[in-house]
Amino acid sequence: LRRSAKEKAASSRWWIRGFSAEAAPERKVTILGAAGGIGQPLSLLMKLNPLVSSLSLYDIAATPGVAADVGHINTRSENFLSADDFGVKGYVGEEQIKEALEGSDVVIIPAGVPRKPGMTRDDLFTINAGIVKSLIEAVAKFSPKALINMISNPVNSTVPIAAEVLKSNGVYDEKRLLGVTTLDVVRAKTFYAGKANANVADVKVPVVGGHAGITILPLFSQANPKANLSHDVLHALTKRTQDGGTEVVEAKAGKGSATLSMAYAGALFADACLKGLNGVPDVVECAFVQSNITELPFFASKVRLGKNGIEEVLGLGDLSDYEQQGLESLKSELKSSIDKGISFVHKA
Ligand code: NAI
Repeated sequence: LRRSAKEKAASSRWWIRGFSAEAAPERKVTILGAAGGIGQPLSLLMKLNPLVSSLSLYDIAATPGVAADVGHINTRSENFLSADDFGVKGYVGEEQIKEALEGSDVVIIPAGVPRKPGMTRDDLFTINAGIVKSLIEAVAKFSPKALINMISNPVNSTVPIAAEVLKSNGVYDEKRLLGVTTLDVVRAKTFYAGKANANVADVKVPVVGGHAGITILPLFSQANPKANLSHDVLHALTKRTQDGGTEVVEAKAGKGSATLSMAYAGALFADACLKGLNGVPDVVECAFVQSNITELPFFASKVRLGKNGIEEVLGLGDLSDYEQQGLESLKSELKSSIDKGISFVHKA
């Protein structure tokens, strides 16, 4: 049972490491697709996040087991929840989605089928578009104010699908809908650190554009720390970042796509959203969002996160000639993926 605002305020006596200016408020995070390859490790990582007081795990099957398992972990929620509800609850099937979603601050969506070798993210469209549409209908009804973190692929189309569904329900707020591209950033940092001989923990690389193939555009010219890498190395790093998902799909040989690194990236991104909601200043992450920094209606770039979700969509900064070319050549593919998502909602 969710507690009243008064009870909530009374229990906000938490002092979180690195966030000591204010008590951390209660935050409910819901994962739709929580029993899947990404969903399970993501559930684990969100249970470890001290900013999460209530974790709601929804799927079409198997979530009671995941919730029971993760619920035994003695992190934050054991402090103030009852003896038989450890801050984690599993919900199964459409009849339980209302309760799963109600009161959510952040809804993370990794529901849907992943790629197999030889498939592009766009090959997932037929199945995942329908799943995302029905889940977003439920979000529109039961948690219209939540920040949505869209992981389901193809992100370049599922984010526009979500926007259209939210619009048709009269609850669209572009500040609250975010496509998760953090894994591209995570990969770009890892690959860059290897070539630049830098400590990976210190590396920063923005990744812009979209989340599929050539639409993934890492901006290594803006990477920190700086390194003097040749054009060939930068080209190889760009390709490896763009093909990072395929590298994992092929290595898993039919057993799915990136799940563990994606769970890590999803947890990192949700944590940034929670920090923003809690008023931590200067939280900046890359995400695929409604945008006017190019002529495309959705685009991934750095965004500043705050109490209402996206506070500011940041510009691209200076691009090298190579990146400028990459930007021009990704636009038509990204546009057609966006259009495909939008027309799916209006055709259906
Ligand atoms: P998976 O097949 O292991 O898990 C998907 C889960 O979604 C399953 O538990 C399934 O029961 C559930 N599901 C299906 N329909 C549902 C519905 N209507 N409501 C609730 N749950 C439903 O797949 P995996 O590996 O976890 O991948 C999930 C998605 O994430 C895929 O679309 C994949 O392409 C995408 N992905 C996105 C990445 C990104 O960077 N944004 C990276 C890697 C994967």
